[in-house]
Amino acid sequence: MGHTLTHKLDIEKLRTLLDGRSYGHTIQHHMLTHSTQDIAAQLLREGAADGLLVLAESQTAGRGRHGRAWFSPEGTGIYMSVLLKARVPGRYAPQLTIVAAAALCRVLRRLTDIDIRMKWPNDLYAEDRKISGILIESYTEAGKNRFILGAGISVNVLQEQYPEWLQDKATSLRALTGKEWDRERIIADFLTELDALIELYLSEGFRVFRTIWETYAWAPQHPIDMDTPRGIIRVRQHAIDEDGALVVQLEDGSYMTVYSGSMSVDRS
Ligand code: BTN
Repeated sequence: MGHTLTHKLDIEKLRTLLDGRSYGHTIQHHMLTHSTQDIAAQLLREGAADGLLVLAESQTAGRGRHGRAWFSPEGTGIYMSVLLKARVPGRYAPQLTIVAAAALCRVLRRLTDIDIRMKWPNDLYAEDRKISGILIESYTEAGKNRFILGAGISVNVLQEQYPEWLQDKATSLRALTGKEWDRERIIADFLTELDALIELYLSEGFRVFRTIWETYAWAPQHPIDMDTPRGIIRVRQHAIDEDGALVVQLEDGSYMTVYSGSMSVDRS
C-alpha cells in the first residue's frame, strides 16, 4: 500500500468553517514537522495567543503519553495542537484531558454514528481499538500556566496502512465505515465543541463531565490489566472521581484510585 498524499487540508475552507470562533483564529499548517506539540510550544514562547492552532499533514516524531510514538501517516490523519483558553493551574490537566476527550467523542459520534467511547485517561476507542489520543502538556510562560492540547485522530488511514504492531490496536473512521471523512469539518466541529465544553467546565466545574464520562465510557466486560507506577494489577473499572482520576476495584473487592497509568484488556 502506497502512502501517497491524496489530499491536503484546505486551510481556506477551515478558516471559513471556523469563522468568528476564538479557537483557530491563527492557524499554522505544516506539510511535515517533528511534532505539532513542539511547534506550538515554540510559538507559545514567542508570545502566541490562546486559541492558536498548529496542524501538520505528517509528523516524524509525533508523541503520546509516556513518550510513546504517534503513528502519523501523511495526509490521512489529523495531527493538531491547540493553545487552550483555560487559565487554570497545571494540576487540572487530568480534568482538562477528559473535557477535551468528551468534546471529541461527542463530535465524532455525531458526525459518523460510530459507537466511539472514552477510554481513561486520554483515548477514544471504537470497537476495542484506539481511534484517537489526546495529550495535554503544561507550560509556564511569564509566570502563568498554559496548556497545549495535542490530538491525533485516525481519520482516513486504511487498515492495511498500520504497521504490524498496531494492526489489532488501532483503527480509523475510514477503516470502520469504508468512506473518506472530511478532516476540515472534524477539526472545526471539534474546536467549536472544545470551546463550549471548556467554558462549561470553567463555569460549572468538573461534575458534569463525570456524567458525560459515565455515558460514553469504554466499559470492558473483562478485568483490565492496569499498568500503574506500583506495577501491573488486575482490576475492574468502576468510575472517575472528582479530580478525573480512575477508581478501580481490585480482585479482593476493595477500591483504589489510579492517578496515572494505562490499561489493556485481558483477552485471554
Ligand atoms: C496518546 O495517545 O497518548 C496521545 C497522542 C497525541 C498525538 C498528537 S498528534 C498531534 C500532537 N503532536 C504530537 O506530537 N502529539 C499530539
